[in-house]
Amino acid sequence: MTLAPDTFAFVADLVRRRSAIQLEPGKEYLVESRLLPLARTAGLLDVDSYVRGIRAAPHPTTLEAVVEALTTNETSWFRDALPFRALVDHVVPEMLTATTSGMFAPQLRIWSAACSSGQEPYSIAMALADVLAPSRMKITATDLSDQMLERGRSGRYSQLEINRGLPAPMLVKHFTRAGADWEIAQPLRSAVTFQRHNLLDAPPVGGPFDVVFLRNVLIYFDLATKRDVLRRVQQAMRPGGFLLLGAAETTIGVDDGWERVSVGRSSVYRLAPRRAA
Ligand SMILES: C[S@@+](CC[C@H](N)C(=O)[O-])C[C@H]1O[C@@H](n2cnc3c(N)ncnc32)[C@H](O)[C@@H]1O
Repeated sequence: MTLAPDTFAFVADLVRRRSAIQLEPGKEYLVESRLLPLARTAGLLDVDSYVRGIRAAPHPTTLEAVVEALTTNETSWFRDALPFRALVDHVVPEMLTATTSGMFAPQLRIWSAACSSGQEPYSIAMALADVLAPSRMKITATDLSDQMLERGRSGRYSQLEINRGLPAPMLVKHFTRAGADWEIAQPLRSAVTFQRHNLLDAPPVGGPFDVVFLRNVLIYFDLATKRDVLRRVQQAMRPGGFLLLGAAETTIGVDDGWERVSVGRSSVYRLAPRRAA
């Protein structure tokens, strides 16, 4: 079945206004496949009827559900590996040196923005556990999607999810069995706090942050939104703080407030000095 053009236009506009995610023409199949389960739950046979109902009587919860359904929550443990190595091998040693000179607080504050179901912030906690006591890390994990945040807070993952990138020694060290699932163990769990946050809004509480992971989300935004988001991230960071982006993302050509620092085979970004003053 083909989606009516005005259904697609309404949904694309709603999602762009509320999340900045761009649904270009050609993504009708995505809208249809993501919204069909919501339509069926509402007792309707197709997405056009479902969206007609929403347009006639827009309800905040339903509008949120539509936006959530159009987010892509793909994630995995230690995704792309290199950023987590860069964190441990480069960022933390630099920050610890700065700590002794009084520049950084004794607790490392990290923002995992657009964290999906929690694999990213828990991977950060596991990577740091080798070099820092959990009491010295404060990880603020945020996402637009309440469903994803709920999953992160539960700290519980299926075997299938565990198989997506979690090294066996980490499983043994940091997880316990919970029926057929696995649960992240304390104290790492208490190092991570989940919070709803839209990247279009002012930064979340928990800052100023020494390190921001903003990975695999800028790719969904247009250039002006990427620039706005990066400016807001700057405001949330301590001078000299580090930003880690996804493999397909960069600040270059988007926002000149950052310096790219090569670390091994990857790069991190730090606030350019003139903005850090
Ligand atoms: C592909 S996942 C990336 C997850 C994780 N950062 C990683 O790299 O594995 C993108 C996440 O961005 C979130 N997202 C999309 N638009 C957002 C916005 N405007 N504000 C906050 N989160 C958003 C989605 O809900 C989704 O969980």
